[in-house]
Amino acid sequence: MSDQKLNIAVIGGDGTGPEVTDEALKVLAAIAAKEGIEFQTTPYDFGGERYLKTGDILPDGAVDELQSYDAIYLGAVGHPDVAPGVLEKGLLLELRFQLDQYINLRPVKLYPGVETPLAGKGPEDIDFVVVRENTEDLYAGIGGFLKKHTADEVATQTAIYSRKGCERCLRWAFEYTRKRNNPKGKRLTLVAKTNVLTYGHDLWWRTYQDVARDYPDVEADYNHVDACCMWMVKNPEYYDVIVTTNMFGDIITDLGAMIQGGMGVAAGGNLNPDEGGCSMFEPMGGSAPKYTGQGVINPIAAIGAMAMLLEQTGCEQAGAQVLDAIQVVTGEKMKSQSAGKMGYSTSEVGDLVIEAFS
Ligand code: IPM
Ligand code: MN
Repeated sequence: MSDQKLNIAVIGGDGTGPEVTDEALKVLAAIAAKEGIEFQTTPYDFGGERYLKTGDILPDGAVDELQSYDAIYLGAVGHPDVAPGVLEKGLLLELRFQLDQYINLRPVKLYPGVETPLAGKGPEDIDFVVVRENTEDLYAGIGGFLKKHTADEVATQTAIYSRKGCERCLRWAFEYTRKRNNPKGKRLTLVAKTNVLTYGHDLWWRTYQDVARDYPDVEADYNHVDACCMWMVKNPEYYDVIVTTNMFGDIITDLGAMIQGGMGVAAGGNLNPDEGGCSMFEPMGGSAPKYTGQGVINPIAAIGAMAMLLEQTGCEQAGAQVLDAIQVVTGEKMKSQSAGKMGYSTSEVGDLVIEAFS
């Protein structure tokens, strides 16, 4: 990347999305100046407001246009006047599917100074990564109704898994575990439910065993998803990298977000790691309508998402510096990670991150 210009599409989105996005962009500008990274950002107004005005979520041609960027940065989706699910499906899931962003990367890392609800656990105990498959499973939207609106109504929602879908996700997860090179040992834990989902998760399990043969240096481990929820709370230090299905990944990453200090700090990347693929980075916090415009929302997750964007677009050093700076700020400056209780405004937290690396 270093000698080329980094071209980023920015969707600030709804609620507090634009406020936290501004901080992430401010940090990007500062680290880019420091590291000599050339970049360009192009704003898109997709989200609830635009939908209410125009009736469209992603206009014709938008996906093709977005595809041409090196990455997409997304602030938040979700508007109080739009029915739940409409924007999530029409924007977030649509982009994940259309851009074939088949990896959802969710680091679960407790930064210094951040409070975790897990008694007796610190930053050295909570530091793992969830690799969630991002294009299949119950999210594929396959299903239907029979006898809708009658007392005999039946609904189906089908989970689909393809060999190709499992394999590309598993292979990426093994590669990632190898590259992460955890000094405590490289371990990839498949989280599924093979004792009950004897077709779909059997395919995952067999594919896992096949792919594992190419990575003898990585411990290939397995947990049922219910047991994983217990261990994440009781022994989070056990985990290095977890790879899991889309639906289970959705659930365990919210558990992960809580043990790492909440939605104010959790960030994620929707990756299409293939040649020419376009990935999208987002804070996990949502649009938090009640805090909109007050300058009290925590931008750390958004800045963390920018660090991930940099890391995944070939600017690893810049990404690592942003991550280090975040940890200086959480460790030495911020009082809390909750909106309104940080001891600083949203933009002051952005400034502190910049001060920490300059
Ligand atoms: C997430 C979110 C989304 C998901 C929603 C908003 C559709 O919860 O990114 O984890 O379920 O994937
Ligand atoms: Mn989720």
